[in-house]
Amino acid sequence: MNPVVPSETSQGSEKTKPHALGKPAATPFESRILGTGSYLPPKLLTNTDLEKLVETNDAWIVERTGIRQRHIAADGEYTSDVGLVAAKLALEASGLTANDVDMIIFCTVSGDQPTPSTACVLQKKLGARNVMSFDLNAACTGFVYGLTIADQFIRSGIYEHILVVGAEVLHPFVNYKDRETCILFGDGAGAVILGRSNALPRTESTPPSKTDSKIYSAHLRADGSLGELFTLRAGGSAMPLSAEALERGDHYLSMKGREIFKHAVRTMSDVCQQALDANGMSMDDIDWLIPHQANLRIIDAVGKHFGIPAEKVIVNVHDTGNTSAATVPIALDQGVRDGRIRRGQNVLLTAFGSGLTSGSLLLKY
Ligand code: UT7
Repeated sequence: MNPVVPSETSQGSEKTKPHALGKPAATPFESRILGTGSYLPPKLLTNTDLEKLVETNDAWIVERTGIRQRHIAADGEYTSDVGLVAAKLALEASGLTANDVDMIIFCTVSGDQPTPSTACVLQKKLGARNVMSFDLNAACTGFVYGLTIADQFIRSGIYEHILVVGAEVLHPFVNYKDRETCILFGDGAGAVILGRSNALPRTESTPPSKTDSKIYSAHLRADGSLGELFTLRAGGSAMPLSAEALERGDHYLSMKGREIFKHAVRTMSDVCQQALDANGMSMDDIDWLIPHQANLRIIDAVGKHFGIPAEKVIVNVHDTGNTSAATVPIALDQGVRDGRIRRGQNVLLTAFGSGLTSGSLLLKY
């Protein structure tokens, strides 16, 4: 194992030591991804386009981030709209209709507006029943958090079909005069329908077959002491939108890129190791690693840490840039639709983001 990741981390200190438990107790039900969907708006913002906006160049962006282009939502195309396309595709892939959805979790940092929630807007646009619907803000880790919550409601037997969306329209929050951030972010959406595994209900006497889908474990973290590294300050109760806030540009995403980079590599490596340890697995048992798509060098560093071959890592950051909560479900959907990810394979999702949040979720697809 290549020790690129120092073991001493703020997230691993005694104060912030996360729960070792990430494996749920046995219950009659397991979760299965019934269908996936994703959507990338057709409009592109290329590196060459950015060269006209800030002092940067294609070669630098490609070398330092791996990103070549990002997709940008059209005027009047909101986060609920991009989420809606992904949600409809996920429903279609599941063989279900909006009427079957028992709960909607909408993971985003760029909702249509603070309230009502984008989940409620989506519920209306989708024509779903009046089911429990809420937004989840765990930044780029949002989808991993959301899928974990959905798994609990499936495993408890409360709900049968849960729609989890990760969707962002980030471009209104990007300062296209700040070359450190504007090169990174794009818009897009991914969605899954989580349902009950097919051999259910399962009891001691009817153990699941080898191809039964399940979520093995989730290891989620947050370290608020590092919150200053990545912020969008204005628009909340601490700093309501004002002419002064707009003047300062506090309504834009702001970050300390180099420090986030280091934490990202450490924390994703840590939470992936936790997932492997909790399940008595090694990276050899993982068929696909789907990391948050923020920067190709971060993805490569995590892959190198585990010695995982590049062919087993799903990467699309060159095409999408960083779509925050949407990166993981978009990459998952692309892997499923192009036939790389097959039933019975082990898939390890991992992400990190503002908060700082981070997490891993290990599933059998
Ligand atoms: O979901 C989480 C979201 N955030 C992240 O994932 C951010 C993680 N961090 C990163 O991806 C990288 O830190 C960046 C891509 C943001 C920056 O790359 P870096 O290799 O860490 O560059 P740096 O900040 O160390 O800057 C190196 C040089 C600096 O110039 P000097 O001081 O060496 O003369 C920067 O001013 O590169 C300069 N620079 C640029 N040059 C051309 C910074 N941004 C640019 C740019 N084009 N866009």
